[in-house]
Amino acid sequence: MPDHALILGGCTIGQHLARLLLNEGRHVTITVSSKRRVAELRAALALPEEQGCRLRVIPLQLEIQESVDSAMTQILANGTPNRVADCMHPHLEGLIAAVEPDDAAAYFAAAVSARHRIMHGLTRAMLTGAKGRRSAGRQDNAAGNLGRRVTGRLVYLSSTAAAMPNAGQGFYAAAKSAAEALFRSIGVELAPRGITTTTLRAGYVDAGRGARYLTEHPEALRAVPLGRALAPEEVAATLHWLLSEAATGINATVITMDGGMTACK
Ligand SMILES: NC(=O)c1ccc[n+]([C@@H]2O[C@H](COP(=O)([O-])OP(=O)(O)OC[C@H]3O[C@@H](n4cnc5c(N)ncnc54)[C@H](OP(=O)(O)O)[C@@H]3O)[C@@H](O)[C@H]2O)c1
Repeated sequence: MPDHALILGGCTIGQHLARLLLNEGRHVTITVSSKRRVAELRAALALPEEQGCRLRVIPLQLEIQESVDSAMTQILANGTPNRVADCMHPHLEGLIAAVEPDDAAAYFAAAVSARHRIMHGLTRAMLTGAKGRRSAGRQDNAAGNLGRRVTGRLVYLSSTAAAMPNAGQGFYAAAKSAAEALFRSIGVELAPRGITTTTLRAGYVDAGRGARYLTEHPEALRAVPLGRALAPEEVAATLHWLLSEAATGINATVITMDGGMTACK
């Protein structure tokens, strides 16, 4: 089976990561939040034909269980991914005292419960695939892993908002913290069976919601010793390394990449 990487979320960071993985000759599946976004993502990536045919773009909308189940079936149809970067996140901003509880419940169902549904499917498929390879007499470490057993590597893209939310980011912070906890526990529970995890907590990124926020609040960068937002390319490069064999020992933990922001009072 060719090396298959999965990127959940075709945001700008996810797109840069897809290029890095495709450049290595991997097969890459990337999800987008709607059918309309499939063509948009392909157009944005504008890949040469040789890379385009190694990329699959699949719609996955976290709020709709049939969409999640259908995406999982399609993802696993081409072989279980052995590297997963989770960059997707639904949107809900509002004050804790203002947001309607039903809206918050729907958000947590998408951001936390649907994510668990996906992790449940992926990790079980990874474990089943590893068992199948062993019973077929093949080595898990055929790719030259120096004797280490590597069944799956999952990296979660979180936010410093998990620790330091601005007003209005309480639901985002709660969902990020919950997802971090799921990934940490997967790393604790499944590392003995070759599945490891890491969370990357990014600070302000010049992309997506971060770019929109910084346009309105450029003064926010005064709190960053580095004095600038992170480029989406540098976050993607870090995720890429965290997905690599060399980073496997960084398991069940959180790494912060925020230009020094959370080190300051
Ligand atoms: N920008 C920052 O400053 C910053 C800082 C720290 C962490 N992050 C994290 O980085 C990731 C990307 O964020 P971003 O700000 O660059 O871009 P964004 O526009 O907020 O991207 C969100 C990602 O999640 C996907 N998504 C949104 N709602 C979804 C839904 N209901 N179902 C399935 N997928 C959904 C989007 O898919 P589509 O593109 O197809 O809509 C997109 O790939 C997020 O996890 C975010 O929390 C961002």
